[in-house]
Amino acid sequence: MTEKTYRIDIEGRAAVRARPGDTLLEVAAEAGLEVSADCGGAGTCGKCRARAGGLLEPPSDAERKLLSAREIESGVRLACQARISGDAGAVFEGNAVSSEITDFCMEYEPPDSGRGHAPDSERGFGLAIDIGTTTLNARLVDLETGRAAASAASANPQRIYGADVASRLSFAVSGGLGALRSGLRRRVSRMVEWLAERGGVEAGAAKRSIVVGNPTMLSVFFGYDPSGIGAAPFTPPFTGTAAALARELGIPAAEGAVAETLPVVAGYVGADAVSAALRAGLHRPGGPRLMIDLGTNAEMVLAAGGEIWACAAAAGPAFEGAHISCGSTAREGAVDTVMLSEDGTLAVGTIGGAAPEGLCGTGLIDALAVLLDSGALAASGRLTAPEDGPIADRLSGGDLGSQPEFHIVRPGEMGARRPVSITQQDIREAQLAKGAILAGAETLMAAAGVDAASLEAVYLAGALGYSLNSKSAIRIGLLPGARPEIVKFIGNAALDGAADALVSAKAREDARLLGDSIRYFELSSAPGFADRFAAAMAFPANLH
Ligand code: FES
Repeated sequence: MTEKTYRIDIEGRAAVRARPGDTLLEVAAEAGLEVSADCGGAGTCGKCRARAGGLLEPPSDAERKLLSAREIESGVRLACQARISGDAGAVFEGNAVSSEITDFCMEYEPPDSGRGHAPDSERGFGLAIDIGTTTLNARLVDLETGRAAASAASANPQRIYGADVASRLSFAVSGGLGALRSGLRRRVSRMVEWLAERGGVEAGAAKRSIVVGNPTMLSVFFGYDPSGIGAAPFTPPFTGTAAALARELGIPAAEGAVAETLPVVAGYVGADAVSAALRAGLHRPGGPRLMIDLGTNAEMVLAAGGEIWACAAAAGPAFEGAHISCGSTAREGAVDTVMLSEDGTLAVGTIGGAAPEGLCGTGLIDALAVLLDSGALAASGRLTAPEDGPIADRLSGGDLGSQPEFHIVRPGEMGARRPVSITQQDIREAQLAKGAILAGAETLMAAAGVDAASLEAVYLAGALGYSLNSKSAIRIGLLPGARPEIVKFIGNAALDGAADALVSAKAREDARLLGDSIRYFELSSAPGFADRFAAAMAFPANLH
């Protein structure tokens, strides 16, 4: 008996077939769209909204709870809940990203003898791959020169199963591990084909691959069961390195070519942190230096007194755009700069200069700094709407029970179709993220006996680490040792470190030694962490 299928139009540009009972979320993924689904399809976050038509099963209880009667009447559905019962169609409301692969045009300085990691001059090409919770990045690297022949970025397709590691783990435990793994491997495979085409080399010619990422992502990709990471004592299925034949992982590569990770240290300190620490040079002697990888899970590595310590703080994905009402990843059109100009007007910039379509992490941090400087945001995080002041006309609500909002962009401004605003709830999410990062850094430094004033450098890695305004970061109290001159942005250091290790045996050896020497520090049970976290959620009252 052939299984019944229906025709589903997604965004009016893709027609796919679906089986009865499939959700619109699943169908959108099939059509090449990743829809924001912070709760992993549990029906609690409301992020997967779509305007739908055609034959669908009636709204679920979760939809009736999160959507108003008027919205339901006008065809708004939660894609994770709406199940297909016949031909149908759906349009998402700015909350879906395509699975396209784009050029990851971030600067990369190949390793050199100055850093002690000169390429070994092997002929051929290799791959450096960073599997982030939100974004995947990969580089095709000339093994002889260390130069990047092409670089690619794409959304992590697992995003539809939840924005953070915890939701991916719970999806894996409830039977979704296969879906997580196959989607990820398929996307990496497509990225490698894309890189080969761009780099003008034969797909399947890569002689070696170095893969970094957090322990959950690496476990899923390399075929391990990550469920031990989900609960105390947060044990990863492997520590140190893992390796496999690249082709067995779906990576187009030369026959017999191996894909290996850099060392994993603990359940939440992975090869990405080791790689970023390598790139920051924390394995070399020097004064106290702190590296923070500003991801969903903020990994921190501290070098001090001849020892290297590491911890991870559950910052959550607020600075990557999730759990924020107008949140966006750092993609074209995302508001990434917000500042008060000298004449008191608000100056807003977007990635690529495109019409504003959302707010990414750097824009959120800037906006909070503007609110603090203008007196509209109290140290406690309470947003008020003053009657005058430079941005008074952009603040609304706060009375009669309505939520206060700061309208960074109003419809029509800069060509925006929708407003880009931050709400009181967004500010609470940002406080949780910045509180976790600051308290994590302070607790780690206290354990290592390091005073913030003695820090020689704070390296910031991750997607935010390209364009974050260090003054804004300091203004909101994100960083310890608040001195702009010691803050250094090192971009996607995890990918860069992987590329270094790809071409240099010395870099691989340094990464191995680094992994062996890191002392893992568990924050959740550390004395003083909870108190520091509570205090670190507050914003600095005034830095002037
Ligand atoms: S409500 Fe969260 S994914 Fe649908």
